[in-house]
Amino acid sequence: MSSLSAKSSGVAMFPEFKECRVLIVGLGLIGGSLAAALKKRHVCREIIAWDRDPQSLILAKEKGITDSSADSLEAGVAAADIVVLAVPVLAMAEMVRAVATFNLAGKVVTDVGSCKQDVVVAARECFGDALAGFVPGHPIAGSEKSGITAAKADLYEAHKVIVTPLPENAVGASRLVRSLWESVGALVLEMEVEHHDQVLARTSHLPHLLAFSLVDTLAGDRDSQDIFRYAAGGFRDFTRIAASDPTMWHDVFVANRDALLEALDEFSQGLQHMYAAVEQGDSRAMTGIITRAKSAREHFTRMLESQSYLKSMSSQSSITYVARPGGTATGTLRVPGDKSISHRSIMLGALADGKTEVTGFLEGEDALATLQAFRDMGVVIEGPSDGRVTIYGVGLHGLQAPPGPLYLGNAGTAMRLMAGLMAAQKFDVTLTGDESLSRRPMNRVVNPLREMGAEIETTEGGRPPLVIRGGHQLSGIDYDMPMASAQVKSCLLLAGLYADGETVVQEPGITRDHTERMLSGLGYQVASDGGRVSVQGGGRLTSAEVIEVPSDISSAAFFLVAGSIAKDAELLLSHVGINPTRTGVIDILQLMGADITLENQREVGGEPVADIRVRSAQLKGIEIPEELVPLAIDEFPVLFVAASCAEGDTLLKGAEELRVKESDRIQSMADGLNALGIKAVALPDGMKVPGCTDQGVFAGGTVHSHGDHRIAMAFAVASLRARDDIRILDCANVATSFPNFVDLAHSVGLNLVETES
Ligand code: S3P
Repeated sequence: MSSLSAKSSGVAMFPEFKECRVLIVGLGLIGGSLAAALKKRHVCREIIAWDRDPQSLILAKEKGITDSSADSLEAGVAAADIVVLAVPVLAMAEMVRAVATFNLAGKVVTDVGSCKQDVVVAARECFGDALAGFVPGHPIAGSEKSGITAAKADLYEAHKVIVTPLPENAVGASRLVRSLWESVGALVLEMEVEHHDQVLARTSHLPHLLAFSLVDTLAGDRDSQDIFRYAAGGFRDFTRIAASDPTMWHDVFVANRDALLEALDEFSQGLQHMYAAVEQGDSRAMTGIITRAKSAREHFTRMLESQSYLKSMSSQSSITYVARPGGTATGTLRVPGDKSISHRSIMLGALADGKTEVTGFLEGEDALATLQAFRDMGVVIEGPSDGRVTIYGVGLHGLQAPPGPLYLGNAGTAMRLMAGLMAAQKFDVTLTGDESLSRRPMNRVVNPLREMGAEIETTEGGRPPLVIRGGHQLSGIDYDMPMASAQVKSCLLLAGLYADGETVVQEPGITRDHTERMLSGLGYQVASDGGRVSVQGGGRLTSAEVIEVPSDISSAAFFLVAGSIAKDAELLLSHVGINPTRTGVIDILQLMGADITLENQREVGGEPVADIRVRSAQLKGIEIPEELVPLAIDEFPVLFVAASCAEGDTLLKGAEELRVKESDRIQSMADGLNALGIKAVALPDGMKVPGCTDQGVFAGGTVHSHGDHRIAMAFAVASLRARDDIRILDCANVATSFPNFVDLAHSVGLNLVETES
């Protein structure tokens, strides 16, 4: 008998996985591959097999993927600690009943079926107390080939396995099933049984059904010979899975009938829309469907997965930067489009009457989340392609209810601005986001919107998701903003477009005014007077035809600091937006003695733009004037790096807003700087940073970005004055605002390597 660990109650009943004897019942592709994988990795004590077909057992022994074959199912179960039922779907419930007649005390049973409900019903009927050890599972791996001859030891590597634990399960049992799959390299996710069957009906069963049906239909066509002879790309790609095992798929369609029919109904409706669009030559409808599908396929796989697989996805695929000393900063570069303006171009372009072309659009995840949200609300948007986006505006009242929650990823701007717009719609909307966004405070927009008559629910403490109930006529308010926030101001102005009367926002300090500028550019009157901004509801937005998005000064900031602190550096940053509500970083760096000049100043689409030249300079520490804080609010992470390379101390106060950004930027930066040997002191509303004039200011070490793009990029810049490598963890979110950061940093001489794990 295997030794038992006796630490905690649930775990105590079951052995450690490495001590387990695993019985695999059914040596098809799935069971055979599991045996092969366990064998190859030597992760359990023994692999026993049982199959109705003695030939398969012999073959498995010959291939060396099993240790022994059971004489009977009963003998196999008696010898095993874990029983894996890997028989066809329609045979699964029967197999569950058969296994239930044996003594299952202290054993764990799992299955691999692609539909779970029938199996669970059968187990509940006959497992009794042994249900504590029955943990259903489903590896999302396969091949159009079937049988033991197709078994592959690497079939599960980096593939997902969905485990659907039952409330009756002992903790130790589900842990053991998790270990089984993780030991063969799979990524284990958990789901509820019913949800599993719904999801699989859409992601697997429906596509197989369509592939079989399409090939069958075309095979019956009188030109089928020609169709198949010349069928390359599209047909072949779309129908690869039509070569899959007929029995298995027949069984799946029978077993998951209800969920599959539901999915098929949804699909038929979609197909009818496409049919009508093609029949009527409705280009706008066709383009809408095609562009929505294309972007969903290309850009949102990750986000869509994050929606349904939130926990496991966020713990996956982490990107680490290794930033090495010895880099330089010389050359000319153009950083990507402004994030704030990109968000607004989609929102206001969608709400304008007519077509708007956007150029210079930031193809970062945040702005793409906004783009997708408007697509989900029925707006036809082409692109982005090389920063070009075409938006077919639907007018202020033309948005449609989205099919599900709008997932906004990491984008605080999207959530706060859209809260204002959504509060005024006729339909309900739920706004959700990633882990970081789900922690950020939303009452700053929810409270004033409620004063305007909106109905919004949040989770505790005013955190997302926001459930916004439609159908409320808003009324204008006169609002004294408690904090200097462009997001709050913009949210209320956007709600104000729909409100009765005037909406007035009084800001305590100047904040970025892109919303006001863009509204004016689209023909909507905005009054602005000494920090008092107002709109009258009930107007309309005319298309500006073209919105040119300048480069983002917040992204340029990393290179303004790089060019200042690196030895013998000179950078020219082209086409950067220098809206006076955003240039705090230039003012602060110049106060610190930076050598920054603005060249070729011009106005582009209502926003001032310049080429910015920066050369190395010995910076000096300063007390940062508080009135500059909102004008440089996103740039402090990299400004703290600059301050570390200055002569004397730098003091920042009045910046408590930094604590509620994508991470607590005061703490994240203080911790990272401390890890690199800088004795920065975090203050409740700022930071004290001691300067250093040595070439090697920063020790090497590991810092955590806390998933915050600007923290990650700031520490990459620090490498220009580091004595050793700086490892920066959790950098994937750089893609939210600056997708080509590593390439551009490289192109001007930074020594930066990206690794994925
Ligand atoms: C933004 C406003 C700022 C800024 C954010 C973008 C905007 O936030 O930090 O990155 O586009 O309006 P607050 O308004 O919360 O200060």
